[in-house]
Amino acid sequence: MSASRLDGKACAAALRERLGKAVQALSTAHGHVPALAVVLVGDDPASQVYVRNKARQTKEIGMHSIEHRLNADTPQDVLLKRVQDLNADPDVDGILVQLPLPGHIDEAAVIKQIDPAKDVDGLTEASAGRLVLGKPGLRPCTPTGCVILAREALGDLSGKSCVIVGRSILVGKPAAFLFLEQNCTVTIAHSRTHDLPALCRTADILVAAVGRAQMIKGDWVKAGAVVIDVGINRIDAPERGEGKTRLVGDVDFDAASLHASQITPVPGGVGPMTIACLLRNTVLAACARRNWPLPEGV
Ligand code: GUN
Repeated sequence: MSASRLDGKACAAALRERLGKAVQALSTAHGHVPALAVVLVGDDPASQVYVRNKARQTKEIGMHSIEHRLNADTPQDVLLKRVQDLNADPDVDGILVQLPLPGHIDEAAVIKQIDPAKDVDGLTEASAGRLVLGKPGLRPCTPTGCVILAREALGDLSGKSCVIVGRSILVGKPAAFLFLEQNCTVTIAHSRTHDLPALCRTADILVAAVGRAQMIKGDWVKAGAVVIDVGINRIDAPERGEGKTRLVGDVDFDAASLHASQITPVPGGVGPMTIACLLRNTVLAACARRNWPLPEGV
């Protein structure tokens, strides 16, 4: 068997297209254009790229993008005040504080400050609690992207066995609840799991979110499984020339492709879905805060 690619880039583009229409519809119906505020502290190069991409895609679908760039030595209380100001600004629908923050800042304290109604990252305790309790709320973006891709591959996910490798707060744990919401039978595996290869081979849907390059081997994948690779790892690529590198996921893509029915590539899989889901959360937040019905296609 040779897997087909589960194309996150195309799926994200289709979602952004629908969101662009939804933004138009909100503007026409209510005279309001949703706005996403992104706060970046410091000059971490990877974060700068992420923030630039978020801002560009926000504008491309017709929403307002508000960027707040603060120096790396910004005191924590100044950042907290900035978040409070964004909470209070009625024109701001979503707030994202780009992580990681500089070492002198307590990330948990900053996230706690974000109004849950504007928590488009889905990281506050209130958002996490609503997810666990099965109440409506803003869901974390990367795990939501995983579920959308799995549904794209399989349609209804009811009764499917889903193994998630990795128990992080950002991905593994929320992904488990989101797949549970889809009526999957969910197992979370982690570094202490016994016989991880055998457990992975039970999965109809295998989600890899460990942050270790190509850790999931081909023969860990059940024949016909759908593989969703959340990892983004940079490795040396001497075959491309001296000092060259390339991005790979947490799954050995070529080997897993021999067993899976569909598999997300890295790059071009889950990554693009994360930003598209952030834009979607901003539209959801704009509507929920004002009790507006959701436009079609969101
Ligand atoms: N840094 C890397 N990924 C993310 C994300 O999804 N949200 C935030 N806030 N920061 C990040």
